[in-house]
Amino acid sequence: MIRELAEKSRSCRGYAPTEVKKETLETLVDCARLCPSGGNLQALRFKLCCDEKTCGEVLQATRWGAALPERHLPDPGKGARAYIVICLDTAAAAEATPAMYCDAGIAAQTICLAAAEKGLSSLMIMNFRRDGIEQALAIDKRYRPLLVLALGVSAEKTVIEVRGEGMPAYWRDENDVHHVPKWPLEKVII
Ligand SMILES: Cc1cc2nc3c(=O)[nH]c(=O)nc-3n(C[C@H](O)[C@H](O)[C@H](O)COP(=O)(O)O)c2cc1C
Repeated sequence: MIRELAEKSRSCRGYAPTEVKKETLETLVDCARLCPSGGNLQALRFKLCCDEKTCGEVLQATRWGAALPERHLPDPGKGARAYIVICLDTAAAAEATPAMYCDAGIAAQTICLAAAEKGLSSLMIMNFRRDGIEQALAIDKRYRPLLVLALGVSAEKTVIEVRGEGMPAYWRDENDVHHVPKWPLEKVII
């Protein structure tokens, strides 16, 4: 059920060393390619990575959990075991317009939900060094990275809290459990 997957699909910033196969990433992108697209332009392309060395290089070009700067996430050895970088094909669309970012978000969430269905966790990352990502994955200049998705088997526990005014974006407790507050239904329907 989508409701259950949406609840389960929490941002994960600590992964187990369990391998993620390239074929699994391909099945995720096979879902994303069916997503709606503004004007059905379908200008998104997907760069896949699941080898340990390259994943380490991609990690270096990303920033995780900026709201918890004292934690320096992920902990050593807990980086993602796979990445999907959502890119704009500039030959299909020269500009990264708001519609392109909408397309990227729709594709990203579709991939994250499909991953959750397979028992994989994920993290959407927009805080990345574009040149570092392009270099690590040898991405041709034609493709512009818009969003990085980290994927793997979770090694952490996350709890959803009811959001109240003044709460931080997220926090960790003394047992390193990650708490993520969400507004209640009555707050978000206007
Ligand atoms: C567009 C977008 C960009 C994000 N970029 C980052 C990022 O660069 N680094 C990071 O650690 N988390 C990033 N996140 C994850 C958010 O911090 C996360 O969604 C938020 O804390 C709520 O947690 P949840 O995903 O478990 O609901 C991003 C999420 C979205 C939707």
